[in-house]
Parts: sequence; structure tokens; C-alpha cells
Amino acid sequence: ESLLETSWAARPVVYEEEQASTNQTAKMLAEQGASHGTLVVAERQVSGRGRRGRPWHSPKGSGIWMSILLRPQIHPMSASMLTLVAAMAVYDAISSRVEGCAIKWPNDIVIDGRKVCGILTEMSSEQDNIHYVVIGIGINVNTDDFPENIASVAASMHVITGAYYKRAEIIADTWKAFEKYYDLFVQTENLALMVDAYNQRLVNMDRRVMIEERGHRYEGTARGIDAEGALLVERDDGTTTSVISGEVSVRGV
Ligand code: BTN
Repeated sequence: ESLLETSWAARPVVYEEEQASTNQTAKMLAEQGASHGTLVVAERQVSGRGRRGRPWHSPKGSGIWMSILLRPQIHPMSASMLTLVAAMAVYDAISSRVEGCAIKWPNDIVIDGRKVCGILTEMSSEQDNIHYVVIGIGINVNTDDFPENIASVAASMHVITGAYYKRAEIIADTWKAFEKYYDLFVQTENLALMVDAYNQRLVNMDRRVMIEERGHRYEGTARGIDAEGALLVERDDGTTTSVISGEVSVRGV
């Protein structure tokens, strides 16, 4: 914790070795009144969750499993953009250590096409008011083997480079960067001030993508995000569709 150079993010840090899911712990603390910036960290999760309810492989000791509690004064409709803000921060922390990483829209960090980080954002709100937002971040740092079913699509920083990394340093760098991007986000309540930086890091940029939206599939060429975080997809008929994250899946083709 002495590595931490933030003014509010990851303050305080709540550490508990084994947890069901740090998102779950953070939501519980939020209900009990924990403050903006509180970070929950686990050494291992016994029921780590990914997007679409998928399990998230969270073995002991090798990864970073953490969730931050935020109480942003923004409209609930803007909250999903915080996931992209977090992806920018994690990207900075990983890319300063490993070459060749990129953001896969909206919020995965990939290296050589394999996922090393996933982010799961959950919110509690009513009408125009956010009670809290929990952003859960899983980073495969020193993991050296993955279950067979995900081994071709997942990787860790260690698997890519052969080196071992100090998790506390990556955590400290992530939250330092997060504060910077969060400030930019709240200035405009959108991503306008980081769209260009995000698009420079986007693995999908100018590449073919296949979008699957509620059973409906189409292809196009990704042209980057707009200020709301939607992915702009240029269709083959020349029109552009803006794809809003949520229940869509994006694949490179
Ligand atoms: C995804 O890409 O599907 C999102 C993965 C999110 C995993 C992290 S690990 C810390 C936090 N706790 C969870 O149960 N999930 C998130």
C-alpha cells in the first residue's frame, strides 16, 4: 500500500484472502455505506464471475482480483462508460510492462489476441440517481496454466513474456492511472477527452468485426468509439452503425 500514489482511488483497501467474488464483497460494503474509492482485493475467488454470468478463473496467488466502489454524481445512463475508463487505466499498467497489448472493445485487454484482463461493472441506481457503481477487474498476471476450455483464448502476462510481475505495483499503477482518466471523464460526463487515446489502443481499429446482437449477426469494419463509448461499425453498404456495449459480442473476422 505504500506504493499507492492516489488521492482517493483504492483508499481504503479492504483485503480478504478468500472471497466468493470481490464484486459481491464490494456491493455488500456499498450497502453498508462504504465510501467512494474503497477497493476490495482477494487472493483467490471461489466464484469469480465474468460478463454474461460466465465463471472467471481466479486461482490463488497468480492474478489480481479486485473491485472498486464508486459513487459518481452522474446519470445512470453514463455509468457504462466507466468500464472503458477502467480499461484505459489497466491498459497503461499492463502496457508499461508487456509489449503488444491492446484494448478489445469495450473493455478487455488482449495480448496477441489472447485475453489477459476482463472488467465487470455493476450498478445500483434508481431513476436519475446512482447509489453506487462497482467495477471489478481481473488481471491474469503470473498464472501459468489455464483450464483447457479457455487456454486458447486466455493468457497471463507471465505466459506471454516468461517474466514474473509484482502484483502490488500493477495495482498501484492501475489506480493512479484510473484517477487521471476518471477526472477527464467527469469533466464532460463522456469519453470525449480520451476518445483518440482509446482508439489508438483499440485492437479492432479498422479491422473487420462480426457483431452479434440478440441473435442477429452482421459484419463491418470497426472505426473506433464515439464519445459515448459506442463502437462505430462501417457496414458494407457504406452506412455506419453505432454499437452500444451490453448484450453484444464482437469478434474479429
Ligand atoms: C469478463 O471479461 O467477463 C469480466 C471478468 C471480470 C473478472 C473480475 S475478477 C474481480 C471481480 N470479481 C468478479 O467476480 N469478477 C470481477
